[in-house]
Amino acid sequence: MKENPQIARIAVFASGNGSNAENIIRYFNDPAAVNGGSAEVALVICNRPEAPVLARAAALGVPTETITRSLLNDETRFMELMEKHGIDFIALAGFLLMIPPFLISRFSGRIVNIHPSLLPRYGGKGMYGRHIHEAVVKAGERETGITIHHVSENCDEGAIIFQAGVDLDTTDTPEDVERKIHALESIHYPKIISTLVSSL
Ligand code: GAR
Repeated sequence: MKENPQIARIAVFASGNGSNAENIIRYFNDPAAVNGGSAEVALVICNRPEAPVLARAAALGVPTETITRSLLNDETRFMELMEKHGIDFIALAGFLLMIPPFLISRFSGRIVNIHPSLLPRYGGKGMYGRHIHEAVVKAGERETGITIHHVSENCDEGAIIFQAGVDLDTTDTPEDVERKIHALESIHYPKIISTLVSSL
């Protein structure tokens, strides 16, 4: 299903709130954005039927697919899904299932993740979303940030593409840190994806 071969078709994989998914969809819908018309979010994949990201995507007219872990790990069925939607590029945005090796190799160089810390700090198993911000505050860090990286078979260990930091105040709560991180993510993630898809 690829109507215009000039326009890269992005699938965003998300498990929760979907603020990043929504920002990415809006960015590529905006013809004034840098490379704005060169790609579109053609699909949102989600593994939790109750996740707000599904309603956010639907409200913006983006098709969604709710998947199970076993479908994600079934190469034939999952690749059929990717082909049905003509997917060229995958952006993970708060997606909490491990990406199977077949998908990493079939989308080699075309699958990225955003992580809400300055990797390699605060990465790895169990380090996601609010848990990271709580650990950062508990450790008394004066800076945190975001990392956009290629996806590899080891959690949070793929090659780093981009990092941006933000200063923390001694009074910042985990909720404050989360707000600062989401602000950074919304500025940078769509632009980095845009640069990557424009060189496909
Ligand atoms: C984002 O902050 C993203 O960086 C993080 O989950 C949040 C999802 O928010 N991802 C991870 O922690 C991955 N290890 P969103 O659903 O509002 O986009």
